[in-house]
Amino acid sequence: MKSFKKRHIISIHDFTKEDIIRILEASFRIEKQGKVGGARNLLRGKVLANLFFEPSTRTMFSFATAMEKLGGSVLSFADMTATSIKKGESLKDTIKILSGYSDVIVIRHPEEGAARYASECSSVPVLNAGDGANQHPTQTFLDLFTIKKTQRHITDLRVAMVGDLKYGRTVHSLAYALSLFNCSLHLVSPPELRMPEEIKKMVADNGCTFFEHEKIEDVLDKVDVLYSCRIQKERFFDQIEYEKVKNAFIITKNMLKNVKPNFVLMHPLPRINEISTDVDKSPHAVYFDQAKNGVPVRQALLALTLGAIK
Ligand code: CP
Repeated sequence: MKSFKKRHIISIHDFTKEDIIRILEASFRIEKQGKVGGARNLLRGKVLANLFFEPSTRTMFSFATAMEKLGGSVLSFADMTATSIKKGESLKDTIKILSGYSDVIVIRHPEEGAARYASECSSVPVLNAGDGANQHPTQTFLDLFTIKKTQRHITDLRVAMVGDLKYGRTVHSLAYALSLFNCSLHLVSPPELRMPEEIKKMVADNGCTFFEHEKIEDVLDKVDVLYSCRIQKERFFDQIEYEKVKNAFIITKNMLKNVKPNFVLMHPLPRINEISTDVDKSPHAVYFDQAKNGVPVRQALLALTLGAIK
């Protein structure tokens, strides 16, 4: 079995079903250990460089929290205009320099492929925290962890993905991962924001059945998990097009009356208005726990890539 030590985490496609199971097992172990203080020194003396070229709350802070809880420390910039990138330094040189100062690099960048490119320039593992509309693999691991926690397993589930399936990188990574576990997918979006053809082909090639819908009501009482996602305003070339679809799907408490008892509502957050705040207290709403799960999962990913656990 391939070791995780020194491995980059760039795309969910680089991971087998067995890899995913091992990452989830490590995340559960580290969460349990963390509760009794047992993971406190795993990464003592190690340094994480948190490079966010796009805004973030959850990913950036949960990586920083994960590293500090394992005894390591974090380098980051609050504003990239305070770095030499502002003077025209290339991404390649920036990564070469930071890989000399740190043991692991986490990068979020607006351009698709930037994390892969960074991994090619780095002498330390690079973890993709989101590259444009492409991939967000560490989010996928915490999404799967949340599904496993709430459903007890991640196989043979019916999962709906609702919203901007064209530009939403979280759903691109998650759809692929779920297709490895025999889940069926219900893809709910406006016609102009459908899941890209290449992702649908990949999930179909993995033997996964998927259905496309335009109304949430068609799937609400049938699925185990509904994964809502934000319409990605920043990825639209034409803001008029964004205005047309921005309120396409809004989930309210009233709509959850007939859902299955095990039904959970997930969202990678931030939400704008996709989920009404009256849903927050519903036992089906797990999106705040989902964000919190980012810490043990990212602890596990850091510990695995730095060889502190197997
Ligand atoms: N889910 C997620 O990626 O959130 P942030 O953009 O706040 O990191």
